[in-house]
Amino acid sequence: MGGPALADETKLIIDFSWNDDHEKWPHIHDMYQVECNYMLLIDNLMDLMHIPYIHRNTIGGGDQQGQVDATMDVTPRDTGVHYMRWMENILPPPTYVKGAGFKDGTLVDRWQEFDILCLQPSSSG
Ligand SMILES: [Fe+2]
Repeated sequence: MGGPALADETKLIIDFSWNDDHEKWPHIHDMYQVECNYMLLIDNLMDLMHIPYIHRNTIGGGDQQGQVDATMDVTPRDTGVHYMRWMENILPPPTYVKGAGFKDGTLVDRWQEFDILCLQPSSSG
C-alpha cells in the first residue's frame, strides 16, 4: 500500500514465497472486497483468539480448547513483529475437514503465521 516510489523491496515486502509454490503448497487464491478501514482488518487478524468462539462452524470448530491453548512464537523485527501460533495434534476445524477430506478423528498439526509491519509514516509524504 502507499506510493510505489516509496516501496523498498529489500526489506519491506514480506517473503510469502509459498504463495507462488502451488506444487508444494496446493491452494487457491481468492480475494474479498471489504468496505472498511484497513485498520479494522489488522485488529481482526491480530486477535486470533476470536476464531474458536466466533467461527465455530468454519475455521474455529473442531478442537476449540486446542486453539485456545496454542503456543506462541513471537519474534520482534526491525520493521514490526512476526508471530506463529502452534496448535499441534488437534482435531481440524470443519472448513479444513471439508477442504482436505480428513476422516473423523484425524488429528493435525495446525499453525498460523503472521508478519505485522509497524512503520512510521514517511516525513517526506
Ligand atoms: Fe474472524
